[in-house]
Amino acid sequence: MTQLISSEIDQRIENDHRTTAATFLGWPRNEIFRDVIGGGQADFNASIGHLSGDDRALLYAKYNQGRHLDELRHAFARLLGDHGNIARPTVVDLGCGPFTAGLSFAASLGPQEPFRYFGVDRATSMLSLGALLAERAREYGAFHPQTTCWFGDDLGRVDFGPARGEWTLVVASYLLASPTIDVGLLVASILTAVSSIGPGPAAVFYTNSANRNADAKYPTFRDALMQGGFELAVDDVERFADTNKSPKDVHYALLYRPAKTTIQMKGRTNEVAKA
Ligand SMILES: C[S@@+](CC[C@H](N)C(=O)[O-])C[C@H]1O[C@@H](n2cnc3c(N)ncnc32)[C@H](O)[C@@H]1O
Repeated sequence: MTQLISSEIDQRIENDHRTTAATFLGWPRNEIFRDVIGGGQADFNASIGHLSGDDRALLYAKYNQGRHLDELRHAFARLLGDHGNIARPTVVDLGCGPFTAGLSFAASLGPQEPFRYFGVDRATSMLSLGALLAERAREYGAFHPQTTCWFGDDLGRVDFGPARGEWTLVVASYLLASPTIDVGLLVASILTAVSSIGPGPAAVFYTNSANRNADAKYPTFRDALMQGGFELAVDDVERFADTNKSPKDVHYALLYRPAKTTIQMKGRTNEVAKA
């Protein structure tokens, strides 16, 4: 993963003709986090000055993605450790950015196990950078040959294929701080997606800065998922230091919905949660 990010993100930026000692892609380095990527919540479809949406996505990957990759890999390693029998899971990554949860999940799971990945983001620049990183990760041997990756901008349009009983993991990593998020609609689309994937166990993994503003929509998100049948399994703020970046307080939450068994009754079908 480190090699992949170094060649596809760092070297691309270093080799760009606009990059100088004081700039990346011609933009002052110390202004990029605030002005170009808006702390991670910019409109990555829009250009700014001489930078295109694709340039902004690339700079997002340089400034923010590394830390998120470390946090998610750390969390997934714990999750997979607790649930060792996760076979052929489906990962739905909402506000996926440049394939952040997909890269971390592949690194935690290892190439011996296949998984299905669906990345959803409103920014086409993020989707194309994500698809490129997924392609390169496959060339690097990070995936099982049967691992599949899909990228698109509308969770409601995803064809999840025939219903299945394997695990589903929905990830919302640093998404809820986005000013464009309507939490009610987001949770409704998660519940629809999870039920169309199938009756297997499902988890929603939330991560964000513990900063009060960034985290403000979390209680509504949690409560709506609990009303939709999820139970709160983990809700914690951790001082995250397993990274070469400076330590930071991160809010992690995991909501869990057990597998459902389908009982065929005369003329109708009832779904009940497994004990
Ligand atoms: C802070 S980035 C997080 C990216 C990635 N999850 C990570 O952890 O690196 C937020 C992402 O959410 C996307 N986003 C913001 N609002 C969105 C919305 N309403 N629907 C889908 N994606 C959205 C942005 O384009 C951006 O890629």
